[in-house]
Amino acid sequence: MNIYLIGFRGTGKTSTARLLAELLGRRWIDADALLEERAGMTIREIFAREGETGFRQREAEVLRDLASQDDWIVATGGGVILREENRRLLGQGRVVWLKASADVIWRRLQADTTTTERRPNLTRGGLEEIEELLQSRGPLYETCAQLEVETNQRSPRDVAGLVQAWLADTKGG
Ligand code: S3P
Repeated sequence: MNIYLIGFRGTGKTSTARLLAELLGRRWIDADALLEERAGMTIREIFAREGETGFRQREAEVLRDLASQDDWIVATGGGVILREENRRLLGQGRVVWLKASADVIWRRLQADTTTTERRPNLTRGGLEEIEELLQSRGPLYETCAQLEVETNQRSPRDVAGLVQAWLADTKGG
């Protein structure tokens, strides 16, 4: 079964996926990195040429592909929960929601050198965008999540440890 890490930008999905894979001895993948590799463009370029609609189309195709395979730990893009079809596919695996508050996310995104290429503005940008999208997406993350982990004060290593323990408890690992 695939394990999906969902949550907003900057909640540690990629670092946690890598560390969780190490702990479980399983393979992991960053869905956005795969998408960029397949497109031969950065996410910023895809948004510029095809708009968000084109990007979401590509994102859905990547998820469909990964969901047809087994035993991946997948770091998803923050907006994967927007499409109904994606939410259904996520539900076929184990789904962990990584959460953080808007100000923590804002600080992390500013510190991340890949932000410019990988995280074009979705609305007006900045802290305001984060607050707005956390609010509107919250219920969608929530409907998909089987486990919620607060990451404000936790390192990706600690988060991976918690997920590992949960998988063992629920016999999903
Ligand atoms: C997006 C999040 C990004 C990336 C794209 C759109 C979003 O992924 O998929 O910029 O809609 O929240 P990360 O969550 O890995 O930053």
